[in-house]
Amino acid sequence: MNFTFRNPTEILFGKGMITEIGSRVPRAGTVLLLYGGGSIKHNGVYEQVRAALKPRRVVEFGGIEPNPHYETCLKVVELVKKEKVSFILAVGGGSVLDASKFIAAATCFRGRDPWDILRTSGENVKAALPLGTVLTLPATGSEANSSSVISRATTNEKLFFTSGHVFPVFSVLDPTATFSLPKKYIRNGIVDAFVHVMEQYMTRPSDAPLQDRLSESVLQTLVEVGPVTLARPRQYEPRATFMWSATLALNTLLGSGVPQDWGTHMIGHELTAFYGIDHAESLAVVMTGLWRYKMKAKRAKIEQYGRRVWNTRGTEAAIKKTEDFFKSLGMPTRLSAYNIDAEEAAGKISARFAERGSAFGEDGDINADAVFKILRKLK
Ligand code: NZQ
Ligand code: ZN
Repeated sequence: MNFTFRNPTEILFGKGMITEIGSRVPRAGTVLLLYGGGSIKHNGVYEQVRAALKPRRVVEFGGIEPNPHYETCLKVVELVKKEKVSFILAVGGGSVLDASKFIAAATCFRGRDPWDILRTSGENVKAALPLGTVLTLPATGSEANSSSVISRATTNEKLFFTSGHVFPVFSVLDPTATFSLPKKYIRNGIVDAFVHVMEQYMTRPSDAPLQDRLSESVLQTLVEVGPVTLARPRQYEPRATFMWSATLALNTLLGSGVPQDWGTHMIGHELTAFYGIDHAESLAVVMTGLWRYKMKAKRAKIEQYGRRVWNTRGTEAAIKKTEDFFKSLGMPTRLSAYNIDAEEAAGKISARFAERGSAFGEDGDINADAVFKILRKLK
């Protein structure tokens, strides 16, 4: 096992912690306060953030969409340059945080076309503006990782980039800032976090018992606490446990030194790009279908997962438990729930994989052909 692990993001966790940004954001210069469609104006988060930022010079941009649009981000880059912004504070869910990372990198990008940042998955990012976050939706792990996913509305593309330059300097995780979330987004968050763990766990045995146990404990915690926080949305402890679980699911610790898959995510991103379903909805449809396709390679881990997380024997029982868990949260696991034709989706998405020559998964075999076979079964 060989790996490097670096996570420089300072986590400020708990009720009332928004005030802490007052001592973290530089006093000199101009801060960009970036947010989404306005949820922070209805739950008291906006007022807390503005109070904590005093007396700094602040410019605002509201209107980052879910699955943040490239086109919108470029408008913000213009604003950042015009206003000479020196620090970005992203307040919202994964979409606002991801947008802030892209804006931070694109502002400093010296290349010809900022889309190249996404086309090269971030390889060419040499610098970025510093950024901090206030998270209002536990799900993506964006608050403590160096990834960002951006959608290009005009071409139905959804691509990610990763760069050590866009780790948030700090992230505030105040569970009470998430109390206003509609149930749909809590459900989405539980499933997204669950699948993040799986992408780093459900591969093949690799002599990494600690990583396995860490992953299994996050999965077990999500199974325990997910339904509780969904049913009692304003209860602090379960929400806090869920929030921290979602951060640990993708702060890159679980995946250190072990094979990783990410095939479910890459297929899921295309489903969102073509059909507009939510990120977590796409994952809940694809994941167990991908396991079935890779049954031979994944058998040992599926059995281990079933045994340790669900106390079941065999692969079918583990898959059924997983799908039943998603369904119990109100999350469908088939394309028909969204009126998406499986044959059509299989054709479109495998064509895109073929065009790009994409291949993901721990064995690099989730390619165009595999995508076609996986998706057409998910009716
Ligand atoms: O825009 P506002 O008005 O804030 O409303 C948002 C949005 O409509 C609302 N919301 C957020 N916090 C709220 C709230 N509503 C009420 N109360 C609150 N406290 O929730 C809606 C969805 O928000 P969004 O940020 O889109 O959701 P999520 O956090 O699930 O982010 C999804 C995006 O993250 C990407 C996804 O692909 C997708 O684009 N991902 C990013 C990852 C990363 N950076 O590591 C990894 C993930 O796998 C994922 O791909
Ligand atoms: Zn995800």
